[in-house]
Amino acid sequence: MSNNSTGKKLEGKVAIVTGGASGIGETTARVLADLGARVVIADIQSLKGHAAAKAIGLDRCSFFWCDLTEELEVENLVKWTVQKYGGLDVMFSNAAVVSTVLQTVLDLDMEQFDRVMRVNPRSMALCVKHAARKMVELGTRGAIICTATTAAEKQMMNTTDYVMSKRAVLGLMRSASLQLGKHGIRVNSVSPGMVYTPLAANNGLPTPEALAEYIGPYMSLKGETVTEKNVADAVAFLASDEAALVTGVDLKVDGGIVAMPFLESN
Ligand SMILES: NC(=O)c1ccc[n+]([C@@H]2O[C@H](COP(=O)([O-])OP(=O)(O)OC[C@H]3O[C@@H](n4cnc5c(N)ncnc54)[C@H](O)[C@@H]3O)[C@@H](O)[C@H]2O)c1
Repeated sequence: MSNNSTGKKLEGKVAIVTGGASGIGETTARVLADLGARVVIADIQSLKGHAAAKAIGLDRCSFFWCDLTEELEVENLVKWTVQKYGGLDVMFSNAAVVSTVLQTVLDLDMEQFDRVMRVNPRSMALCVKHAARKMVELGTRGAIICTATTAAEKQMMNTTDYVMSKRAVLGLMRSASLQLGKHGIRVNSVSPGMVYTPLAANNGLPTPEALAEYIGPYMSLKGETVTEKNVADAVAFLASDEAALVTGVDLKVDGGIVAMPFLESN
């Protein structure tokens, strides 16, 4: 769908950004739109979602209220996007939650565990499924990007359910990339290190300074903090034709975290 008359690398592409009302998703929606894409923000936060779309510009961005844990709603999101913008080239499946209590193995709260599993890997599986089905139907050689986390390849002291949920996202991404390759659909993930967002604040890191102090010693790149924009730029690359031969890859944007620190409170 790209016509590239302005030279912007996502010109002509249509993208869905889930969890686009806040944090990494909100910044990515803006970055994709600035690179020429038309973007649908999908989220359960109506006020923030509408405000984000308006700030980006209603000529190139819309908000669609959607509880991504409901299959019918994800299917409707995809249908609505295609009706509004004429196609679907990029699915950035990014929305996720963390438990609001410590989740050590000895004290696992299974209600919270189920919520994390329902929102994180399950809703991402729905997004990948319905985006891919539509791309196959339309013959679009699209790009799907999921948000995992650096911690998915490691272990953490007290977010067992979250680490498990993101490990499952890597399994989804790798399996989908293998299965969808014959349709020309690329599937990758982006794994942020620690970024100061509402999700990080809910995870026991109440200020940007607290987050930097916590994670800084574990990053190879010293004096750096990973921002939403750093992650959004990686997503834009994976969404674009620059990554035409990149699939099945988990792209870490974490400043080179080689081990996870102990997080004793959340
Ligand atoms: N912030 C970090 O340090 C960090 C690190 C690694 C990975 N991540 C991942 O990055 C992604 C974005 O996180 P963030 O930090 O920007 O968090 P955030 O809380 O700012 O944004 C998450 C968004 O997802 C939406 N959401 C949650 N459940 C939903 C549902 N059922 N239906 C629709 N929308 C729903 C929320 O309303 C919110 O707008 C997540 O996948 C997260 O796991 C974040």
